[in-house]
Amino acid sequence: SALTCGIDIGGTKIAGAVVAPDGTVVAEARVESPATDPTAMEEAAAALVAGFAAEHDVTAVGVGAAGNVASDRSTVLFAPNIAWRNEPLGVDLARLTGLPVVVENDANAAAWGEFRYGAGRDVDDQLMVTVGTGVGGGVVIDGKLLRGAYGVAAEIGHLNVVRDGRLCGCGNRGCLEQYGSGTALVRAAREAVAGNSLLAQDLVDRAGGDPAAITGPMITTAAQEGDRFAIEQFEHLGSWLGHGIASLVAVLDPAVIVIGGGVSDAGDLLVAPLRSAFEHGLAGRGYRPTAEIRLAELGNRAGVIGAADLART
Ligand code: BGC
Ligand code: NA
Ligand code: ZN
Repeated sequence: SALTCGIDIGGTKIAGAVVAPDGTVVAEARVESPATDPTAMEEAAAALVAGFAAEHDVTAVGVGAAGNVASDRSTVLFAPNIAWRNEPLGVDLARLTGLPVVVENDANAAAWGEFRYGAGRDVDDQLMVTVGTGVGGGVVIDGKLLRGAYGVAAEIGHLNVVRDGRLCGCGNRGCLEQYGSGTALVRAAREAVAGNSLLAQDLVDRAGGDPAAITGPMITTAAQEGDRFAIEQFEHLGSWLGHGIASLVAVLDPAVIVIGGGVSDAGDLLVAPLRSAFEHGLAGRGYRPTAEIRLAELGNRAGVIGAADLART
């Protein structure tokens, strides 16, 4: 049975795995993402593939990339959080690895992974929201991944939620990503410190006294250990996301909404306020089935598993 390789390239890390046709991960590895240097990112991704290919008989590579992937499933047109501009990622990786390469948007790949093997495997219509460096989206309608006319559909992180709001890496203002991402989470904590708020003192201590060293996972741990300020930051994030998802559900009517990405490691700390904002924002609530909100089952492997499967089909 043919093994394929899945690579997930994000603003924070590059993850790779060898995946079997039943979705099982046979091997995996991850490295930090040199997100400001496209050549270094391609080399790092190719090195992961070479490492896998040395030990496993992989036939193709699927890449999930955190940006707008053209309908050629190779070129990254643009990325708000990575230095990709018309980047021929698929062509370059095929040359570097000697294998056929398919490139897909990272959140689309994660959505596909969850739909095939995870939290959405029992439904035909699924919306996935990935909460990490950015906010990503993947939409499966009637069992098919929605790519749009030009490959760049389902960019839900750039749904406008605040008119003239915070500036986003996409060039607009007020995008959901500026209020509901891991980046927004960390920014809120650092801003509290900069404003001399003692509320965030516990986080500063965790960061060894340096506010610039506060990370998303630190805020998650603090919240899990009962830090009130950290818990509130997840409440804010969840409520923004739930608000945005309610609008999306008015358009898409999915059966299930899957929440993934690194920030979803916080589990109910994020999902409970998200669900509540979603239920309060749903049009016609009380007179329609409420789509179920589930945590990603494949965790941070959704992207690599989905990408590997897309390389196969
Ligand atoms: C990008 C998407 C990506 C998402 C998650 C967003 O900022 O526009 O293409 O899927 O971040 O990485
Ligand atoms: Na997407
Ligand atoms: Zn944006």
